[in-house]
Amino acid sequence: MTRITRRATLALASLGLASGPAFAQQFPSRTITIIVPFAAGGPTDTVARLVAEATGRDLGRTVVVENVGGAGGTLGAARVAQARPDGYTLLLHHIGMATAPTLYRRLPYDPVGGFETIGLVTEVPMTLVAKKDFPANTLAEAVAVIKREGDRLNYANAGIGAASHLCGLLLQKAVDTSMTTVPFRGTGPAMQELLSGRIDLMCDQTTNTTEQINAGAIKVLAVTTPERVGSLPNVPTSAEAGLPGFEVTVWHGLYAPKGTPPEIQQRLSKALQAALRDPRLVQRFAELGTAPVAQDRATPEAHRRFWQADIAKWRPIIQAAGQYAD
Ligand code: MLT
Repeated sequence: MTRITRRATLALASLGLASGPAFAQQFPSRTITIIVPFAAGGPTDTVARLVAEATGRDLGRTVVVENVGGAGGTLGAARVAQARPDGYTLLLHHIGMATAPTLYRRLPYDPVGGFETIGLVTEVPMTLVAKKDFPANTLAEAVAVIKREGDRLNYANAGIGAASHLCGLLLQKAVDTSMTTVPFRGTGPAMQELLSGRIDLMCDQTTNTTEQINAGAIKVLAVTTPERVGSLPNVPTSAEAGLPGFEVTVWHGLYAPKGTPPEIQQRLSKALQAALRDPRLVQRFAELGTAPVAQDRATPEAHRRFWQADIAKWRPIIQAAGQYAD
């Protein structure tokens, strides 16, 4: 590419006007930002930082993470939906992308049409955890405490539509008892309050709870997956522990703003697939109770189909609960 063409391409790119093969050949020519729609230190942040490191190795560019928490992840999602579609601002978000279209009826962005899918990343088990001195050591004992104490118990979540919120909905429905919900900008900060004993219970992903459980800093009552989790082999599933139907697995996907040039989407998808094969990422995911999805699920097309199906799955569940965010 001649120097003039390159300069013109970069100038157009800076105006968000570039596209086509010439622009794609230059991509990435600067740092990429992955927006995480929850506070730092939580499970989404953990997944994003591992993906950022590994995709950066494939792209040959720095990929940074910026936390934009609030409103169950919709503030961060809005930031990306409204960003320049040039491949330099991405979103790493989870199952909240499937629930927000039903839960939030007045969003300042299109929760489905505002994004291009880059690919599915991982599916993370959840754990029901309690503060260290919670008066129960099994799920059955905890159900009895919840039934007895009800809204005298503090249950933490990361806002309406967050995985911790959905898990809490299913738990309180299964136990037919409401607790007092305390919202945070992410389950990273919420974990600090659980460790301090000011929060009694929380559903959170193994990427945030495994190390605290293994350190004995919090109690674990069940995993919310159909099968036991390899990194927590002694923890029963919710079904084994007497609460069948209390099951949530939190998938995470990578997105770009609608209108991102197809060549850029494909380059980002290639980087994501390389990241999911990266031994350092695979090892760290395993230590935290999860694993990259298979390569054929980490494509833009496969993730869009999966995402649409999950929107359709959660819509009647949310409508039946009749609890909306706005
Ligand atoms: C987080 O990263 O803070 C969690 O994913 C929030 C949630 O969805 O519970």
